[in-house]
Amino acid sequence: MEAKGCVQHLSIGQIRNTYGKVAIITGAASGIGEAAAKLFAEHGAFVIIADVQDVLANEVVASIGPDKACYRHCDVTDEKQIEETVAYAIEKYGTLDIMYSNAGILGPLGSILDLEMDQFDNTIAVNLRGSVLAVKHAARAMVANKIRGSIICTGSLASSLGGSGPHAYTISKHGLLGLVRAASGELGRHGIRVNCVSPNGVSTPMACKVANSDPSTVDARSAQLANLKGIVLKAEHVAQSALFLASDESVYISGHNLAVDGGFSAISSIMSLTKH
Ligand SMILES: NC(=O)c1ccc[n+]([C@@H]2O[C@H](COP(=O)([O-])OP(=O)(O)OC[C@H]3O[C@@H](n4cnc5c(N)ncnc54)[C@H](O)[C@@H]3O)[C@@H](O)[C@H]2O)c1
Repeated sequence: MEAKGCVQHLSIGQIRNTYGKVAIITGAASGIGEAAAKLFAEHGAFVIIADVQDVLANEVVASIGPDKACYRHCDVTDEKQIEETVAYAIEKYGTLDIMYSNAGILGPLGSILDLEMDQFDNTIAVNLRGSVLAVKHAARAMVANKIRGSIICTGSLASSLGGSGPHAYTISKHGLLGLVRAASGELGRHGIRVNCVSPNGVSTPMACKVANSDPSTVDARSAQLANLKGIVLKAEHVAQSALFLASDESVYISGHNLAVDGGFSAISSIMSLTKH
């Protein structure tokens, strides 16, 4: 299998996580998914980038190297395209060890009083239905091929906290956590793990676009709001957490929502009013 050829690029400390595994990462043309694709490949995985941004995705493949990554155009709202992407992994590489369902959109902003339902439906279609499809078809392939795989979804602070994102986005990300918990319940008997990684603000193209700002301005704002000081959350930190959940080092972790938010979701904002 081609993925095994990656070992020559690895140090001893790296030959543990995802060496020789085949991973599909949706939404890997940009932001968190791009960082994950690069990191997974550095750790010996062969990465199939599934996205709709063809030019950017091919640039990511070129930066990783075509021996360690490839691109499949895949709109996650289209079941056939997800099914074909999974089938491609199995046909070409003989396995699918990791499905990282990461593609997402922010959806409409503004009041629930004015929520445009077609925009709501589109947000649910990408963020929630797209992940349901990714879980469904990855799990089908894993069960059929007796693969003890790892499925990961990118949730959000908005998976567990209202008011931390737009309404449709928050609803979709809460649903995602339900998906992870429901699927981990059924798939455990097949040795398949399903987990969620939930960051708060990261200065990706998505976050910069909504803030109408450059990454350094978004970083400064995030740092100001953060609970954990002295470090700014980057896409690479989220990718590290996804890598952990993808790897054998998290071999008994399933149904878990791994918050990558510096403790933000664990504390009350009232405390921030306390002067020290
Ligand atoms: N950036 C943040 O602050 C933040 C915080 C919490 C969670 N997240 C989540 O992280 C994930 C990645 O977002 P990001 O911040 O890296 O944003 P991003 O915009 O940089 O990346 C999202 C990627 O998803 C792809 N995508 C969108 N719709 C798609 C579709 N229908 N089919 C296939 N691919 C599609 C885009 O082309 C893009 O490459 C999302 O699920 C997002 O909700 C982001």
